[in-house]
Amino acid sequence: MSAFNEERVLSVHHWTERLFTFSTTREKSLRFSNGHFTMIGLRVNDKPLLRAYSIVSPNHEEHLEFLSIKVADGPLTSRLQHVKVGDTIIVGRKPTGTLLIDYLLPGKRLYMLSTGTGLAPFMSIIRDPATYEKFEQIVLVHGVRQVDELAYHDLVVNHLPKDEFLGDLISNQLFYYPTVTRECYRNMGRITDLIENGKMFADLKLPALDPSQDRVMLCGSPAMLRDLKQMLESTGFLEGSTAKPGDFVIERAFVES
Ligand code: A2P
Repeated sequence: MSAFNEERVLSVHHWTERLFTFSTTREKSLRFSNGHFTMIGLRVNDKPLLRAYSIVSPNHEEHLEFLSIKVADGPLTSRLQHVKVGDTIIVGRKPTGTLLIDYLLPGKRLYMLSTGTGLAPFMSIIRDPATYEKFEQIVLVHGVRQVDELAYHDLVVNHLPKDEFLGDLISNQLFYYPTVTRECYRNMGRITDLIENGKMFADLKLPALDPSQDRVMLCGSPAMLRDLKQMLESTGFLEGSTAKPGDFVIERAFVES
């Protein structure tokens, strides 16, 4: 059996000149956990051209959704940004990854800290009822350069709290903290700075990060991951893995630089 399924593009939405979302059909046999990534791409000159993409859509949905940047000279995204409804996308049959609530020890609060397309796996995790069973409070933080890069803002703020099945859990347990670095916005600054100076916790009316009760997932650029990992470790947080659960787990946002 091939390592890939061929799926059809169902919708495309361009958030900005740098960022877009698309959804595809989903082979019924494709299984994944919320937070997983898989290889996806296009056939170019009869060869698959693939990159790792976190799955935005939760595993109970019938379709698949992905969030992507557009890189003018990126081998895949320079082509992928032009996909249209009805086009074919190749989707790997073996989703995997470290950003699973199973790889975190029990705790009171789950922080999901993301920059840019690092938001993607967290959109799946916040739509998983198991997340709300394991943690009392869930804090989704998304850092971007410009306001219009706050992908899914409207879904999180206006639609999910009214969702027929998840609405109550989301309204009662989810905190959403979008922050912007290069334009005026209600929350401004890098996530690292907002943690260090305590502003994010003051705004959310939550205590500072504490390894005895908080768990953290990180997904973003290599620089953001490096800095936040260092901050967490210096505060006593231990990194978890697929082999041994811990206080925090990490995944790269798989952008082409
Ligand atoms: P900044 O505008 O100060 O560079 P990008 O689009 O380059 O991936 O950046 C997404 C967001 O991540 C931006 O708000 C950017 O802030 C921020 N960022 C970049 N590097 C870091 C870092 N080391 N720690 C935290 N946030 C970062």
